[in-house]
Amino acid sequence: MIEWVVGMVLGVAYVVIRLAYRRNETTKFGAPFVPLEPKVVNRVMEMAAIIPGEIFYDLGSGDGRLVIAAALLGARAYGVEIDPFRVWYSRLWIKLLGLSQRAAIIHKNFFEVDLSKADVVTMYLLQTTNDQLLAKLKQEIKKGARLVGIAFHLKGWRPVMVDPQGPIYGPLYLYKKT
Ligand SMILES: C[S@@+](CC[C@H](N)C(=O)[O-])C[C@H]1O[C@@H](n2cnc3c(N)ncnc32)[C@H](O)[C@@H]1O
Repeated sequence: MIEWVVGMVLGVAYVVIRLAYRRNETTKFGAPFVPLEPKVVNRVMEMAAIIPGEIFYDLGSGDGRLVIAAALLGARAYGVEIDPFRVWYSRLWIKLLGLSQRAAIIHKNFFEVDLSKADVVTMYLLQTTNDQLLAKLKQEIKKGARLVGIAFHLKGWRPVMVDPQGPIYGPLYLYKKT
């Protein structure tokens, strides 16, 4: 009997979270959840060349794999994620891996998050979303910070490196803010 009750409560909680997420999808959505393959995660980390202590942001952090990879390299790593289910899931992994001192997930729309302290920013979104982010990045990102555009580029910015080893949707673009 108790198993039934627990099962029902968990089921209802899941449906409520998914419905909340759907509402977000129609209003503020910037990209669907498509996780990066581990080999691409490694390549993004190599390109970003994180120095321990640097501040890292992944815009649209999904299940937190880039945030966790950056924290394991010594960054103070932040993921920004709008989907409450993935926020919960990635926070759980951060806790289980003992990375809570170095990694955190901000449950917010990334258009509303201040990026002025970032040393490294990664974005695996959509071309239209990157286009909408251009003005914010131009205004907030500090000089010398690195940005990695995953599959989609930053219009008008000159990449310092383009690597074809990205996901199926496109290459990896490394930028340095001037
Ligand atoms: C393509 S996935 C990338 C996931 C992860 N960064 C990775 O590389 O595996 C894009 C993520 O961005 C999130 N997202 C989309 N629009 C957002 C917004 N405006 N603010 C915060 N997160 C957003 C989605 O929920 C999704 O998890």
